[in-house]
Amino acid sequence: MIFTLSEEHQMIQKMVRDFAKHEVEPTAKERDEEERFDRDLFTKMAELGLTGIPWPEEYGGIGSDYLTYVVAVEELSKVCASTGVTLSAHTSLACWPVYTFGTEEQKQEYLKPMARGEKIGAYGLTEPGSGSDAGGMKTTAVKNGNEYILNGTKIFITNGGIADYYIVFAALEPDKKHKGTTAFIVEKDFAGFSVGKKEKKLGIRSSPTTEIIFEDCRVPLKNRLGEEGEGFKIAMMTLDGGRNGIAAQAVGIAQGAFEAATAYAKERKQFGRPIAEQQGISFKLADMATAIEASRLLTYQAAWLESEGLPYGKASAMSKLYAGDAAMKVTTEAVQIFGGYGYTKDYPVERYMRDAKITQIYEGTQEIQRIVISRMVMQS
Ligand code: CAA
Repeated sequence: MIFTLSEEHQMIQKMVRDFAKHEVEPTAKERDEEERFDRDLFTKMAELGLTGIPWPEEYGGIGSDYLTYVVAVEELSKVCASTGVTLSAHTSLACWPVYTFGTEEQKQEYLKPMARGEKIGAYGLTEPGSGSDAGGMKTTAVKNGNEYILNGTKIFITNGGIADYYIVFAALEPDKKHKGTTAFIVEKDFAGFSVGKKEKKLGIRSSPTTEIIFEDCRVPLKNRLGEEGEGFKIAMMTLDGGRNGIAAQAVGIAQGAFEAATAYAKERKQFGRPIAEQQGISFKLADMATAIEASRLLTYQAAWLESEGLPYGKASAMSKLYAGDAAMKVTTEAVQIFGGYGYTKDYPVERYMRDAKITQIYEGTQEIQRIVISRMVMQS
């Protein structure tokens, strides 16, 4: 077992860390306050190859692996969790299913421009009445000549409104439930597609989250992803990898909060000496560092398994479960270490705490991760 990143991984880690520090961090607070997505930042990430990390060069990627990808999401999230999830949803939830289930034509038409960062991707599964029970979706697809006609509403769409392509799941044969679901690639300009309400959120505020609406939306037959009836499996397999992207986001958020809290604790004096030297605070820092390290190991392990072509669904659910809870705990402690200052917007830790909460909710709540893990544990 080797517990260090390879030279190539370290090189990209350093590159993303520098980029995050110089290009992402300076506007993170302001973008959070203004709930503003910055497309230029995404284009800059594309110029560095970050929008297509795991995909082969023939599909517009840089031919690296899933470990590099999670390292990149972690580094971005360390300074701005919104930027981290923009990349994560784009890569895991939109590019991955096209790479894995798409025809050669679909890869050329959709994966390539997404991997190059010319287009942004999103994923539409959740509906007003079906969140955790993803199989209960009401959006329908009806085959009509050379097209499918989609009707319904999807909610909580990360990259909603800024994405060019949406991977969407709809019931083609509702009576068959899971086996009646089909996946589609929907372009933002397709007739009958529109973007609905934009959510006002507690955290990840510079990552737009919207409804997407299908009103007799016409999707060409060639835009079906995978076979008819394969949609639920595609949705679940996509989330298997996506969850590790969220784990990486959680690790980054926790690391960012930890670094801010440590620096503050070394400077801040109470009772005549730095609070970092006092047990009440130093033990907190020790627990925070341990939780982050364990989260990172789980996350890197799941990414390594995926890169090696080994089963990674259980590892990914575990990394998301553990890292999400750790991020919430670490960021809450970071606010505590800052005391009253931590509760103000003068310091970044309140933003880290708000951003951490979503990692316990999206891409499957922590309760859903426990369902996934317990089922797999019982199978083995
Ligand atoms: N890989 C492949 N196939 C899978 C699978 C997986 N990981 N998980 C399930 N399946 C298959 C099963 O094998 C089964 O197939 P058969 O019918 O052939 O036997 C079928 O799918 C149905 O599986 P289940 O009986 O396990 O389905 P279920 O209804 O009990 O649901 C669940 C399982 C795990 C609870 C699932 O509904 C789930 O993951 N829910 C949470 C959804 C979620 O994470 N939503 C987040 C959306 S994305 C987001 O957050 C927004 C964003 O943009 C970031």
